[in-house]
Amino acid sequence: MKSRAIRQAFFDFFKKKQHEIVASAPIVLKDDPTLMFTNAGMNQFKDYFLGYKEPKSVRIADTQKCLRVSGKHNDLDEVGHDTYHHTMFEMLGNWSFGDYFKEEAIAWAWELLTKVYEIPIDNIYVSVFEGDKTDNLPKDIDAINIWKKYIAEDRILEFDKKDNFWEMGETGPCGPCSEIHVDLRSEEEKAKISGKELINADHPQVVEVWNLVFMEFMRKADGSLEKLPQKHIDTGMGFERLCMAIQKKASNYDTDVFMPIINQIETISGKTYGENEEDDIAIRVVADHLRAVSFAIADGQLPSNNGAGYVIRRILRRAISYGYRFLNQKEPFIYRLVDILEKEMGEFFPEIIKQKELIVNVIKEEEVSFLRTLEQGLNRISQIIEKNKKEGKTIIEGKVVFELYDTFGFPTDLSALVAENFGMTIDEKGFEKHMQDQKDRARKASESETGDWVVILEDEKEEFIGYDYLEADVKITKYRKVTNKKGSFYQIAFNFTPFYAESGGQVGDTGYIEALGEKITILDTKKENNLIIHITKTLPKTPEATFKAFVDKKRRDAITKNHTATHLLHQALREVLGDHVEQRGSHVSEDRLRFDFSHFSKITEEEMQQIEEIVFKNIIAGHPLEENRSVPINVAIEKGAMALFGEKYDDVVRTIGFGDSFELCGGCHVKSTTDIMMFHIESESSIASGIRRIEAITGQKAIDHLKKHFTEYSDVLKILKNPKEPVKAIESIQKENNELRKQVEQFIKEKALVAKDEWINKAEKIGDITFISEKTDLDAGAVKSIAFQLKGKIDNLFMIIGSTANQKPVLTVFISEDLVSSKSLNAGTIVRELGQFIKGGGGGQAFFATAGGKEIGGIDQALQEAKKYLN
Ligand code: SER
Repeated sequence: MKSRAIRQAFFDFFKKKQHEIVASAPIVLKDDPTLMFTNAGMNQFKDYFLGYKEPKSVRIADTQKCLRVSGKHNDLDEVGHDTYHHTMFEMLGNWSFGDYFKEEAIAWAWELLTKVYEIPIDNIYVSVFEGDKTDNLPKDIDAINIWKKYIAEDRILEFDKKDNFWEMGETGPCGPCSEIHVDLRSEEEKAKISGKELINADHPQVVEVWNLVFMEFMRKADGSLEKLPQKHIDTGMGFERLCMAIQKKASNYDTDVFMPIINQIETISGKTYGENEEDDIAIRVVADHLRAVSFAIADGQLPSNNGAGYVIRRILRRAISYGYRFLNQKEPFIYRLVDILEKEMGEFFPEIIKQKELIVNVIKEEEVSFLRTLEQGLNRISQIIEKNKKEGKTIIEGKVVFELYDTFGFPTDLSALVAENFGMTIDEKGFEKHMQDQKDRARKASESETGDWVVILEDEKEEFIGYDYLEADVKITKYRKVTNKKGSFYQIAFNFTPFYAESGGQVGDTGYIEALGEKITILDTKKENNLIIHITKTLPKTPEATFKAFVDKKRRDAITKNHTATHLLHQALREVLGDHVEQRGSHVSEDRLRFDFSHFSKITEEEMQQIEEIVFKNIIAGHPLEENRSVPINVAIEKGAMALFGEKYDDVVRTIGFGDSFELCGGCHVKSTTDIMMFHIESESSIASGIRRIEAITGQKAIDHLKKHFTEYSDVLKILKNPKEPVKAIESIQKENNELRKQVEQFIKEKALVAKDEWINKAEKIGDITFISEKTDLDAGAVKSIAFQLKGKIDNLFMIIGSTANQKPVLTVFISEDLVSSKSLNAGTIVRELGQFIKGGGGGQAFFATAGGKEIGGIDQALQEAKKYLN
């Protein structure tokens, strides 16, 4: 069975069991501060488990793109070294939200695996939760009894919390689970050791394929468990492992999920998979990381220097460095694998086809720059090795290895390899210590403690009313305390809220709430999944009171102007540059708007003017806001609403129209485009390959900015005496200025020639020394040029020149090389000493040095004193 058919059979099976098949959520998470990437199929349903949101269907099945590279579930270091870990993998899952429970979940898993996929019963083991004293949880007898209907009792194994109690993170929904394991070893091996002994023992061919989680609890911040309002089913089956089991392969990488990519790596590198362990690891690393990075980029996460972007950069760099070291790839090559990825996965994940150009460009650019970094790192380590050798050291310090790793992203094993070539080793322990110190520092910086919610008022749903109201009577439903490196704060939820929570690029509202003479400032508003959280420094004395809530109106107005202008800009960009322009990111605050979009060249001045003009025209046109708060997503898309890539939309969406601009958007907007008043593009730049950024301002800020420019302009006109054609007038001044500069340069040159001859003629002979001591209004540059012209021309020359150009005293001392050696003179020392007379300092070389000062009157004395060095 091919992998595509395996995936399809899963959907068909659960469709027959009345499950709705839904699309995978993006791999990059935007509205969940507890996670960077989707790491389990259930992430997108977290709100259903917690009861924050109603599921659209109580039975759902899907395949979810997952990335386990940070936080509680992090497999990155293992990937490549073994044959069954991955960064990105697909998780097939079926869910019941308060509907069926253990009985059906187990029965269907059994039916699918043994009847549809025909995995031999003799290869299957199952595990169940043995209970836990600290959590006061009993053994999962129900699961054991159900399993007994299908499988021999001695194949039902009991494991503890670590293996059989699934938790999403430190806090969140959780519950006992039952895993299904398959033993894929040969009969001969099975005879030697029973599969039973190898369950949960990291054996590459005795693997867990499916995890059935019986969600019943919520882990709270204080570590305790609370019963969820309903019981749910969350199952997750590793697609790649399932393919291995069905296709009877020795590893996931040997299945048709990975082999086409591996074959392509073989073609590019000339290596053969399966011949050498080191090469094999590198091939697996590249094949795996290509998928993770491509999907992350397709879902909107570009590599960057922090947060989720940094994780993606690290994954890609890991692949590049394995390619460089073991596959001999000194030029970018990973981007060339996107073609085969598209061919294999594009059909089911069309985002790979749609975003292919971006994926290819971004990967290539990262490869070019990291390969350069690797080369620089190699040079740097060679220098360090040279130095160490001279000093007789044979070990490269841990601190140095860490610096190479940290600043150059230079892998330690590569440092070790280079060192070895020179007969040296690296101090691995020292490196580890520096690494640990840095981790500790980072952990301290990001440490935060989130208390449990204190519920004041049971309220099903917190409603956002801020599209229509900026003031409202609200009640606090719950609050909790959060402590992070910035201090202690409270997060407060209301029954109704006029405060917009940061999302879709628009910043969160600020303002205050007031009751019983107490006023509490709302510092920011954020979203956690669907919950709107208001951030305050203090808690009201009587949280049960009814509060009057006020959004900072002036700030919100400025934000809405920028948000609507972002839509107009988006539309103007498409009109002028073409339909390939797609939003890649945006930030809308009260100060400015920032819009990132796909486009492959710099925007010309002419295009920029056109863009600004279209936006102006649309502002002046006074297009009214056309808002529709509940449109079925397919209807909106059919009508041409622009959707953002990597964004997960609900089935019912909100659309925003202004004239020809029509977008899916949840943000806040002006009532009419004339409210924007003014629009001005401040800058245009490139932020990544094929991605450009425009920053612009609107409203009063744009008016003030233009007013300032007008004032400056009219001042310039006044200075120019109001010429008829100001541009021509300035050009002619510039031209005149250039000509005059040339003439002055020529004049100085001639003057310097005259001065040189004069100085030579007036030179004094003191013993066998030719002594020149002169004061001049030539500047230090001209004096230097004369000195260098005299180099080698006059024997035993000692020249000191005091320059007074621009009222800045400078002493220049020039001593011919023969005199430097015969009399051990040093112009640098001399100029520093004589510099005191002009209240200054300086230095230089033995034959030429200068000192600048503040006391022009001291030049004569300095020139006088110079003679004493000749004795
Ligand atoms: N949440 C469980 C897991 O990720 C089952 O989907 O393994």
